[in-house]
Amino acid sequence: MILATIIVLFCFTANTAHAKFKVIREWNYVNFTWQNPEVYRDNLEQQTYIPENNIIAGLKYFQGYYYITVPRMKPGVPATLTRILAEQDKDTSPLLEPFPSWEMNTLNDCDSLQNVQNVEIDPGNGWMWIIDGGRTQTLSKSPEVKCKPKLMVFDVLKMEQVLKYEFPEEVAMFNGSFLYDIVLDNTEQGYAYITDNSGKDPGIIVYSIKDQKSWKIRHSQSMRADPTASTFRVNDISISASLNLASIALGPRIRTSSDNKLILMEEREVYYSPLSSLHLYSINSSVLRNPEFASQNGEYQGTVRDYGMKGSQSVGMVMDSAGVLYYSLLALNSIARWDSTTPFQTGQKIIAKDERYLEWVNSFAFDESGNLTILVNRLDKFIYGQLNISESNFRLIVSNVGAKSYLHDESYNYDSSTTTEKKLEPEPTPEPEPSTTKVAPVSEVKQSSSASEKSAIMSLLLTSVVMMYSIR
Ligand SMILES: *[C@@H]1O[C@H](CO)[C@@H](O)[C@H](O)[C@H]1NC(C)=O
Ligand SMILES: *[C@@H]1O[C@H](CO)[C@@H](O)[C@H](O)[C@H]1NC(C)=O
Ligand SMILES: *[C@@H]1O[C@H](CO)[C@@H](O)[C@H](O)[C@H]1NC(C)=O
Ligand SMILES: *[C@@H]1O[C@H](CO)[C@@H](O)[C@H](O)[C@H]1NC(C)=O
Ligand SMILES: *[C@@H]1O[C@H](CO)[C@@H](O)[C@H](O)[C@H]1NC(C)=O
Repeated sequence: MILATIIVLFCFTANTAHAKFKVIREWNYVNFTWQNPEVYRDNLEQQTYIPENNIIAGLKYFQGYYYITVPRMKPGVPATLTRILAEQDKDTSPLLEPFPSWEMNTLNDCDSLQNVQNVEIDPGNGWMWIIDGGRTQTLSKSPEVKCKPKLMVFDVLKMEQVLKYEFPEEVAMFNGSFLYDIVLDNTEQGYAYITDNSGKDPGIIVYSIKDQKSWKIRHSQSMRADPTASTFRVNDISISASLNLASIALGPRIRTSSDNKLILMEEREVYYSPLSSLHLYSINSSVLRNPEFASQNGEYQGTVRDYGMKGSQSVGMVMDSAGVLYYSLLALNSIARWDSTTPFQTGQKIIAKDERYLEWVNSFAFDESGNLTILVNRLDKFIYGQLNISESNFRLIVSNVGAKSYLHDESYNYDSSTTTEKKLEPEPTPEPEPSTTKVAPVSEVKQSSSASEKSAIMSLLLTSVVMMYSIR
């Protein structure tokens, strides 16, 4: 199969650089590396494999593999976590290999993986952090509620399980939570920040490695769907749903101060956005790490930053080690980029736009060579049962943006005694409020926004769209 190449011009503020987006994998539907033909036939007959019910969703890269999740949103999904070789060979629609094994993907076995939306992999020690929502068939009227939501840590280098942690009911509801995305913070011995997209009790779940405890920070104004942003169109599909926070990204740990010293930040910005919202918000990590802000069902009362409006609703989001955010703009079939050292309202740029190739950009992953890989999955059609498996539906698209994941910062190490302090000058006191020259239009959270504000931002974004070609 010949894959299309998409060429996009990157448009930076001062200089203009070229970047190519290249389709590297393309599937009509996904299939798996079955143990043998009999097992495959049995799964088809018993409908434990229904090809059109399998959709790829989350993407991460680690040491030569792409790790790809296949959430169990509908029946007939034989494995929820898989991988493929990253190196390109002739097979552009490879079979997915269940990871860590077929056995660990057994449905209704609560020690195995049930419904994985996203994972994060720590490049320092090869630990894969897997969020498993527990509930399956989440798109059906009555989801299967057999296993509790849990966090699993799996050492990819040693191929062994490190941790299995079931969330308590007050943190993630057995029947009602939806663990969506995860970032890792290596401060102290380490924390995971997980978005719970739950319709009933959305929030950011914090897990502390040191204490093996979890809690949830709630803030309805910024974490729940904005009713004025609940309806949008992706190509010919109209989406109408109130979806709470989903995407999350972690700001860099190291910042350069005005006198050019490197500063180790204790308080990092944690960016997030509800799916049904045009706003980008952040909360600082020291707030998340303090369980006192998580009083049961209580709302966090302190400061949440509202950076203002994006051009559309987003679901995938990732930040690089220099603080540049990449995110999807679903209704615009676009990928946007914002350097967080510039004001949000003027600093956002669309770097790729294509109705055909960028229909629902769901996830992003950095590798170790500066490539950003984008997973596109037409979730809009999948939800409404309109995926046509005679066409290409899922794609991985790559661009070399010369950046690395937020996890690759120089000080990266869970063990603080070996932190590379020679290179750094950690401030004894926490960083003060980032200077106003860095993040300008920061305001307290306010609800909603006028239509004129929306269209102004839309046109601002559209003027920064640059040329794009599709070559067959
Ligand atoms: C799925 O993959 C198996 C090999 O694992 C192959 O034999 C089978 O034909 C494939 N089925 C479809 C529908 O592509
Ligand atoms: C889960 O919640 C839904 C509605 O909120 C309810 O209809 C269903 O019976 C519950 N399932 C279980 C197993 O408790
Ligand atoms: C990743 O980037 C390197 C250059 O840094 C390039 O050689 C390689 O082909 C890229 N990988 C993909 C999948 O494009
Ligand atoms: C599915 O796609 C094929 C190939 O593009 C097309 O011939 C067919 O009409 C489509 N089916 C539907 C129901 O749209
Ligand atoms: C982070 O939050 C804490 C607790 O609310 C606050 O004391 C601190 O000033 C905040 N820092 C930044 C940089 O916003």
